[in-house]
Amino acid sequence: MSLIATISAMGGFSWTREVLGLAGASVFWYIISSIVACGRSNVIISRAQTKYGKLLRVAPDGIAVSDADTLIRINSARSPYEKALWYKSARMDYRGDSVISEINTAKHDKRKAKLAPAFAGKNVAQLEANVDSWIAALGRAIRAKIDQGEETMNIGLLVQYFQVDLISGLLTGEAWGDLKDEKDHFGYLDLNEYQVPLIQCLGFLPVARILFTSPWFMKLFGPKTTDTGGLGLMLRLLQDEVESRFNENTGKPRESWNILDEWMKHGASANECQLDLSLLLPAGTETSIMMIRGTLLLLMSSPVAYWKLKQEIKSGIAAGRISNPVTNEEAKSLEYTQAVVREGMRIMVPINFGFPKQVPDSGDTICGTFVPGGTSVYINYHSMMRSEDVFGSDANTFRPERFLGTGPEISHMSKVVDLAFGGGRFMCLGKAVANIEINKIFVEVRIYSHRDGDSHPSNG
Ligand code: HEM
Repeated sequence: MSLIATISAMGGFSWTREVLGLAGASVFWYIISSIVACGRSNVIISRAQTKYGKLLRVAPDGIAVSDADTLIRINSARSPYEKALWYKSARMDYRGDSVISEINTAKHDKRKAKLAPAFAGKNVAQLEANVDSWIAALGRAIRAKIDQGEETMNIGLLVQYFQVDLISGLLTGEAWGDLKDEKDHFGYLDLNEYQVPLIQCLGFLPVARILFTSPWFMKLFGPKTTDTGGLGLMLRLLQDEVESRFNENTGKPRESWNILDEWMKHGASANECQLDLSLLLPAGTETSIMMIRGTLLLLMSSPVAYWKLKQEIKSGIAAGRISNPVTNEEAKSLEYTQAVVREGMRIMVPINFGFPKQVPDSGDTICGTFVPGGTSVYINYHSMMRSEDVFGSDANTFRPERFLGTGPEISHMSKVVDLAFGGGRFMCLGKAVANIEINKIFVEVRIYSHRDGDSHPSNG
């Protein structure tokens, strides 16, 4: 039983009612719910959201919103909303902001325009080829363990190693080798275990945020490129790579395709490349890892869904609709696989809460309530993805079938799930990479780990 459940059971204490009153006066409620709930703050906040409605006050100047239409409006092209100060807590380097911690809209958009082409147009084929080779490496690692007769394997850990290699390889053309060595190089994964919750908490405390993300504090106490391990060592490796490439010859690309070369081609400065490469690692690893591991867990604990997925893969291979490896286009046409991907993303949404936007000075009416200018609107993705209004009375259940077929309701549900990547100018930069991998990975992992003859013909 969690600590909160224990306290509630002991004293008849209603966590939500007694403590929520504090949210208007201080950030205490949110901080306590984050720390005490030990990784279950999404559940605590969502319970409160269910009880008090689509608009919930979580801090003196902050509300949580779980309404998809509001998020679509905030993200829309002409929206006057800007990133709230919370984003400053995503700063990783005292030398400056990354594209995510840059809250000045004009500067953010200009910066993003240089970074986005690496993930679009003809580069998508390069992204897909990279994803293919790393999924194959993951598949071989799983297969080897099966062939060696290992009774159990930690597939969650293998997925973490796979994702770190995929992203580090995409960044500079050279992966860290976590999967091959089955090792968390630089202690990066370990670091994330406490770094992400810490950022989430600090972002809420204005004084702590200003202190901990100020250049002088970060310079004194933050990760340094002179460190012999951890984040500091990772920053140095990226810095060395950026420096050597800028010194070498700006126009001379590496043999293997990589994001750094693409950014240089589109005019990103050395400083911008350094800062944004360091961001892409956490942004591109923890998110996809959460979705893939979570969906594998859901499939393993839902024999019917797993069986249907297997049947679709088996018949797809037999009918020649699945190549070796499955292409992104083919995967998108596999109806049940797509339903699993959407349902997995919905139930295991990687970003549960946060990424607040600031209400424009004139104020705004949200879900029928006037909200004054300057208020931070936090997005409660967890509640949004489990809305009974949108997904039906079994919204808390993993049931891919809800996405089968066509019609306005299914289109709307899919649109809401797609909000997991944000939208408009705030859209996730790595959405193309993430979509390619999640479209393919469940098909390929199944093929590599098969025992009953649904292998691709060209695998022998
Ligand atoms: C399932 C996987 C993923 C999900 C659900 C996801 C979701 C998100 C969300 C919700 C945001 C914030 C949007 C906002 O500010 O409102 C974001 C931003 C971002 N994501 Fe992702 N992400 C995923 C994977 C990735 C990957 C693989 C990469 C890199 C290769 C990546 C790179 C970024 C970057 C750089 C930003 C900042 C964009 C900006 O500030 O304009 N993400 N992502």
